Amino acid sequence: MALVELRQVMKTYSDGQSSPVTALQATDLLVGPGEFVCLAGPSGAGKTTLLNMIGCIDRPTSGRILIEEKDTATLGRGQLAKIRRRAFGFVFQSFNLIPVLNAYENVEYVLLLQNVEADERRQRVNTALASVGLSRLMDKRPGQLSGGQQQRVAAARAIVSRPLVVLADEPTANLDSKTGEELIDLFAALKQQLQTTFVFSSHDPAVIRRAQRILTLRDGRIMTDERLGG
Ligand SMILES: Nc1ncnc2c1ncn2[C@@H]1O[C@H](COP(=O)(O)OP(=O)(O)OP(=O)(O)O)[C@@H](O)[C@H]1O
Ligand SMILES: [Mg+2]
Repeated sequence: MALVELRQVMKTYSDGQSSPVTALQATDLLVGPGEFVCLAGPSGAGKTTLLNMIGCIDRPTSGRILIEEKDTATLGRGQLAKIRRRAFGFVFQSFNLIPVLNAYENVEYVLLLQNVEADERRQRVNTALASVGLSRLMDKRPGQLSGGQQQRVAAARAIVSRPLVVLADEPTANLDSKTGEELIDLFAALKQQLQTTFVFSSHDPAVIRRAQRILTLRDGRIMTDERLGG
């Protein structure tokens, strides 16, 4: 079964003044369980737009998005937000951690929003931090951590809600290349361990080639969809 299915999803941005920009042409896509997918392609190709469509961050201009075969067009704003929280974990380019909270609290925050009770919360936060190798640094605030460590906190925060899919828009862009490659290797290990699907975007060939499936975009279209061994 597809976790996420896009049927003829198209996205046009218009600000009402300049002429509208079609960021994503009508696109069909199936993302299945356990996939490790990279969106590649030049700047402006539509990678962020496609990730935002997959993650239901934004509504398409036309076409349908199905999450576990449920058509999201039939959902109200509140229901969609609930499904989005359950289905997706997000990792951002700029880490997006809350500066006044330590690593533990940044991860715990997700579960507080979901009203997970204290004992289970403690256990899940500790497990998530251990799986990204940060148990020792859980009392540090983001400003006391390196970029790579901050992005591992963000990865723990993305997986702690046990999402179906982790979505990451250029998660390595603010890391040096070695740290960036290590982050993707961590994603791959988490995918194996948790059976979670990952979809991330990147410009970096060393990051892109670590994926098992590479979607290359250009001018708002998926030009190639390659599946690699391993
Ligand atoms: N909010 C917006 N309003 C207007 N145009 C937008 C908006 N977001 C994106 N676009 C346009 O849509 C196209 C696709 O943008 P998108 O951000 O998806 O590309 P990208 O592949 O993620 O690029 P990058 O590698 O630079 O992040 C571009 O032409 C961009 O200028
Ligand atoms: Mg982008």
